[in-house]
Amino acid sequence: MAVFMIFLKAHLIFAGPMEDLQNSLQVDSWGNPYPCSWPGVYCDWDDEVTSIALSGLTFSGSIIPENIFINLIKLEYFSAVNTLNLNNTFTLPKDLCSANSLIHFEIFNFTLDTFPFQLTQCSKLQVLHLTFCSIVSTLPDFTNLSNLKILELNHNNFTGVIPANLGSLQYLEVVHLFNNKLTGNLPTFVSKVLEVLDVRENLLDGTVNDDLFSKASGLYFGFDGNLLTVPDLCKEIPFCVYVK
Ligand SMILES: *[C@@H]1O[C@H](CO)[C@@H](O)[C@H](O)[C@H]1NC(C)=O
Ligand SMILES: *[C@@H]1O[C@H](CO)[C@@H](O)[C@H](O)[C@H]1NC(C)=O
Ligand SMILES: *[C@@H]1O[C@H](CO)[C@@H](O)[C@H](O)[C@H]1NC(C)=O
Ligand SMILES: *[C@@H]1O[C@H](CO)[C@@H](O)[C@H](O)[C@H]1NC(C)=O
Repeated sequence: MAVFMIFLKAHLIFAGPMEDLQNSLQVDSWGNPYPCSWPGVYCDWDDEVTSIALSGLTFSGSIIPENIFINLIKLEYFSAVNTLNLNNTFTLPKDLCSANSLIHFEIFNFTLDTFPFQLTQCSKLQVLHLTFCSIVSTLPDFTNLSNLKILELNHNNFTGVIPANLGSLQYLEVVHLFNNKLTGNLPTFVSKVLEVLDVRENLLDGTVNDDLFSKASGLYFGFDGNLLTVPDLCKEIPFCVYVK
């Protein structure tokens, strides 16, 4: 009986979504009974996990199972930046946005087995980076990402057109779509705070609309390596990159 009670107590402390995550990812430096003390894991005063940064940690798994993100109801920040040249292919769960607490989601240089379309339902998301992830896909419908400020999808294999609903997002500040295989013309970008639009090295064509350059905050526009016709106004912007 005593043995059973001890087991039960230990299990209660250790159980939960972070234990499930560790069972799947097998992070080398995670394991003690208190997830809030694990490297890269940050919690609030109520011991609710607010941030997971796998960057710089070694781990052998690559699947994030279901029922993790839905139970981490305060999780705002998730990042997996492959600085150690690990060779993992990430599979992301379908319920990634069920708790809808994520504000920042970032994966760098881990292969994604498929584009995580479920991310387009994270309506609080402000920052989305999926770069060097070997993604072969069309771009998603961005309509529900109405709080998005920073979108970085460069260095993948996205095909098809840049959807008009991306241009319709009103808080967009930075758009990195360079080094993909996107086609068609640019949509109209309505954001008045757009600072960076970098679409270099794609297969875009058509004529870039003058309106793009009337945005007061425009700091950098990159059009090189496409078949785009860029208006003369581009020359008046110090950081408008286009080989005439
Ligand atoms: C990505 O990781 C691979 C190892 O999986 C490494 O060879 C490559 O240099 C990394 N790429 C970048 C851009 O860091
Ligand atoms: C990366 O992992 C895949 C699948 O596990 C394997 O086939 C491949 O050989 C690995 N590549 C390197 C460079 O270790
Ligand atoms: C895109 O696809 C091509 C051809 O399959 C491949 O050689 C290249 O490495 C891919 N690029 C990226 C960034 O995944
Ligand atoms: C946007 O969210 C609503 C409400 O959750 C959903 O019904 C709709 O299908 C979503 N639209 C897109 C384009 O994802």
